[in-house]
Amino acid sequence: MNADALLKEAGDKLAAARTPEEVEAVKVAYLGRKGAITEILKGLSSLPIDERKIAGQQANAARVALEADVEVRLRDINSAVLAGKLASEKIDTSPQLAFPFPLGSRHPIRQTMDEMVSIFRSLGFVVGDGPEIETDWYNFEALNIPANHPARDTQDTFYLEGYKQLLRTHTSPGQVHAMETRQPPLKIVIPGRVYRNEATDATHSAIFHQIEGLAVDTNITFADLKGTLTLFIHRLFGSSVKLRFRPSHFQFTEPSAEVDIQCTICGGKGCRVCKNSGWLEVLGSGMVHPNVFKAVKYDAEKYTGFAFGLGVERFVMFMYGIDDMRLLYENNLQFLKQF
Ligand code: DAH
Repeated sequence: MNADALLKEAGDKLAAARTPEEVEAVKVAYLGRKGAITEILKGLSSLPIDERKIAGQQANAARVALEADVEVRLRDINSAVLAGKLASEKIDTSPQLAFPFPLGSRHPIRQTMDEMVSIFRSLGFVVGDGPEIETDWYNFEALNIPANHPARDTQDTFYLEGYKQLLRTHTSPGQVHAMETRQPPLKIVIPGRVYRNEATDATHSAIFHQIEGLAVDTNITFADLKGTLTLFIHRLFGSSVKLRFRPSHFQFTEPSAEVDIQCTICGGKGCRVCKNSGWLEVLGSGMVHPNVFKAVKYDAEKYTGFAFGLGVERFVMFMYGIDDMRLLYENNLQFLKQF
């Protein structure tokens, strides 16, 4: 058979090929080391000179044409295979099938914390964090609580070996980290876990959660503090809830205030949860003390700021009418399923 006839024959076989392997087999049969067209090319030297030229051109043309046909056929088959796969394969992303256990849900502490943080974010606060293992400097000293100051007694501290480090007793050291690493204007909230060496009861736990807040700029006033915290409480509990700012004392703020809300359980009439006062204390706050600014090398003449710290568990309890904090840590599914 001459090269043209071989090319025609190979073309028919290519058209019949259905897989890349079948195409490859056709290619080998004609263009491989012992392929039919290769054989013609190999035998050219034994032909008389005038025949050799014509047969050579014909065989080379057949080789080039067949190589191109093989490429085209391969491309067609591959795209047909891909199209077939795309049409037939569906990825089932439904979680029930991928994960054969019933899905859990976020813990009410986490849900509440996220909700509170997102309110602050909507007011322009960024979210920061800080280490749970702290030094004396961050937890106390930089917050204007010097060694031997009685204010340390109120924070039953877990010290680590050698007294060089401790478990943070509040998220306020997060303020110090924030100011050490950023320059004003600054609006930041720092949610996290804190530790106190306390016996667990209905309203206390040795591990609990706080959200710290800090705003620093050239003209921050107590009105900004009141406005921000009032808006926050109204967003969380509804705008009809009453709140009051009560003078207080914290070493790292001056003046300081605590915020009470009208008891969410009894509506202010007086009950067990509010100890018959009609009010619930929800957070501590104040204007950042100049000594704190000095500790982080902020210009206390130029800048003012407000800070606040709130206990997340208390909010969870007031929002859902839970009167025993221990329920939040027992992981009783009957209890958790309600959220
Ligand atoms: N760190 C205080 C505590 O754990 C709460 C607090 C009060 C934080 C006043 C503040 C603040 O930032 O200004 O009791």
